[in-house]
Amino acid sequence: MVATVSEVLTVGFFPGAFSAKLTRLHGPNRLGAVHAAKQLSAHPISQARDWIEDAQSIAVLTGAGISAESGIPTFRGPGGLWNNRRPEDLATPQAFARDPKLVWEWYVWRRERVAAAQPNPGHQALAKVEARGVQCTLITQNVDGLHRAAGSRNLLELHGNLWRERCVVCGREVENHDSSARPLPPRCSCGGMLRPGVVWFGEALPAAAIDQAVQAAQHCDVFLVCGTSAVVYPAAALPQRAIAAGARVIEVNLEETPFSQFAHVSLRGKCGELLPQIIRVPPCPESLI
Ligand code: APR
Repeated sequence: MVATVSEVLTVGFFPGAFSAKLTRLHGPNRLGAVHAAKQLSAHPISQARDWIEDAQSIAVLTGAGISAESGIPTFRGPGGLWNNRRPEDLATPQAFARDPKLVWEWYVWRRERVAAAQPNPGHQALAKVEARGVQCTLITQNVDGLHRAAGSRNLLELHGNLWRERCVVCGREVENHDSSARPLPPRCSCGGMLRPGVVWFGEALPAAAIDQAVQAAQHCDVFLVCGTSAVVYPAAALPQRAIAAGARVIEVNLEETPFSQFAHVSLRGKCGELLPQIIRVPPCPESLI
């Protein structure tokens, strides 16, 4: 089954079969039958902290909200990128075919925002889970590269990366961190047009990344869902998979999302404030201080 990303183009997608196309959730009740028990024996923050501390295997799904405190705009909600722009004009293969210069100008603008940004305490807390030595898979929908900059290494970038470019003719991929002025659209050495190395609506996700993400969701003890509106599939299906496989699922978000009612613990607040509270870093042994 192919997995494509869709928010605007694919209608009536999910539940049941897992598809890897970018797809939007239509309405809050599509999460279906999976319902989590919510009998907590402790305060939600302590409970989340204990579960994370006891876990041998952790999977994390992040979205634009985790980078908001680094100054990167989210897609939806106040100030979101899709408030005054249409994905159909900027984030589809059809848009690129119609006006590659316009699409590139938008990506250059986004690169400039990201180039000026630093990882925040939310990114840093997640990098520390990996550093603790437990199995940790960080699955992100973000293309900004801030998780890697924070030190995360076991990272699956489901929607690609803002700094990658791919030739539409020969398929060659390059990484380019230089966002200085150049004629747009840029060209490959073969003469073909380069496109941003991200996954647009209606396109397939990288097969290996989505396969590994599904595996991580199905085999973790704890699944953390951080700063995502949980409306874009297939990423939004991963927490449901984790619940179905018996994991404890913790959501961290400023607002309630369609997924909140299914999370075992749903924490309201900023990733940069809550993640450092629930991810305890073991103190340095005195001999190392
Ligand atoms: N801390 C926690 N949550 C936050 C914060 C914060 N500081 N700031 C915003 N949020 C939450 C919002 O409440 C919202 O639920 O982050 C979420 C951001 O949602 P979206 O803008 O929809 O971003 P995301 O879920 O990553 O979007 C998925 O949509 O357009 C596509 O491809 C794009 O990868 C993106 C996908």
